[in-house]
Amino acid sequence: MRPTVLEIGSGTGGVGVALLEMGASAVHGIDLSSASVDVARRRAAAAGFEAQASFEVGEGTQVGDQSVDWVIMDRVLCCDRRAQEMLAAAMKVAARRIALSVPDSRGWRGLLNHPMWAAENVWDRFRGGCRGYVHDLRRIERTLVGGRFRQSGSVHVGLWHVGIYDRV
Ligand SMILES: C[S@@+](CC[C@H](N)C(=O)[O-])C[C@H]1O[C@@H](n2cnc3c(N)ncnc32)[C@H](O)[C@@H]1O
Repeated sequence: MRPTVLEIGSGTGGVGVALLEMGASAVHGIDLSSASVDVARRRAAAAGFEAQASFEVGEGTQVGDQSVDWVIMDRVLCCDRRAQEMLAAAMKVAARRIALSVPDSRGWRGLLNHPMWAAENVWDRFRGGCRGYVHDLRRIERTLVGGRFRQSGSVHVGLWHVGIYDRV
């Protein structure tokens, strides 16, 4: 079955368009940045996916209640202090799967990520960049388990955890 996908924090649409190329039937992306949404729309059009792709400016903690097969959150939970609210929104609409990537807070990766992200936040405060968060991955996974999502796959990409969680 070709899944319908909601991508929270879709950025410039790279992941969404890649999912369409891999067989997703429809992708809807929401992102806080209108500039990114514009790029995502152009990217989807250039790839020939106008009919299957839609991108809009929106808040990831408020995604409505229209059910989709998959919800993707690639490198977005780490951009927002409200990870739990975003997870709750995702769990409400994901009928089958949630996939996410976050900097790993556990083990030796966590030992590196915490000071590295703290240092970057100091730097970003002067530079005017946005704050990043190394959220507690164990808490994220407890929330998913509480919402009846079970991990079906995971991989590390450098210091990042990429996890797939399927509805039980
Ligand atoms: C690091 S980028 C990742 C973009 C894309 N997911 C990717 O992997 O290429 C994070 C994106 O999340 C968006 N974002 C952060 N907080 C958000 C929120 N609360 N609701 C929607 N989008 C958000 C930012 O505007 C930004 O485009």
